[in-house]
Amino acid sequence: KNSVKFLEKRIREDGLVLPGNVLKVNSFLNHQIDPELMNTIGQEFAHLFRDNHITRILTVESSGIAPAIMTGLALHVPVLFARKTKSSTMNTSLFTADVYSYTKKVTNTISVDQKFLLQTDNVLVIDDFLANGQAVSGLLEICKQADAHVEGVGIVVEKAFQNGGQLLRDQGVRLESLARISSFANDKVHFVSE
Ligand code: G4P
Ligand code: NA
Ligand code: NA
Repeated sequence: KNSVKFLEKRIREDGLVLPGNVLKVNSFLNHQIDPELMNTIGQEFAHLFRDNHITRILTVESSGIAPAIMTGLALHVPVLFARKTKSSTMNTSLFTADVYSYTKKVTNTISVDQKFLLQTDNVLVIDDFLANGQAVSGLLEICKQADAHVEGVGIVVEKAFQNGGQLLRDQGVRLESLARISSFANDKVHFVSE
């Protein structure tokens, strides 16, 4: 798992641990984006789900889009992102879900146009971070409304000390996280060692 080592190395070198157990990765993921790293990440997700007949990638704007699009490129499937605000051009029927953010203490309604998510789809859900799992749960709810099949969830950085991973695994969802952080003890990033 070369890309995983790449990612851990990059997080160690460029990640900044902020108060409140938040990892700042603005130099390659959440603000500036490293396309080569995203490409490697996309190829890794594509490899992990190569036998699952994925027909569509689903993510949520904005930071999920970069890893999602590289995964879609590698699997040759379209990438759909849920919107957090109502688009003036989206006046058709929507699938929607409410997503509560524990960090921001706000609820966002995310939505996708019903015409882009089909009952025949085998969906791979991709996101940048998994913390409490609320964003991913919202995406799964949207897939449920579409009656689409979810093949699994691919996460770039899982904060394994929060409950999102457990929440998904308890539902029988296949979860693949490329980097799993066990703690930020002493303001350093510690990874789950396997
Ligand atoms: P949850 O979906 O897993 O429950 O996450 P939570 O509500 O705690 O997080 C809300 C936002 O913060 C999400 O982005 C999530 O990706 C991000 N996040 C959570 N923990 C971290 C962290 O340690 N570091 C960074 N950089 N982000 C974190 P968002 O608000 O939807 O924003 P965006 O996708 O537009 O960037
Ligand atoms: Na995100
Ligand atoms: Na984010």
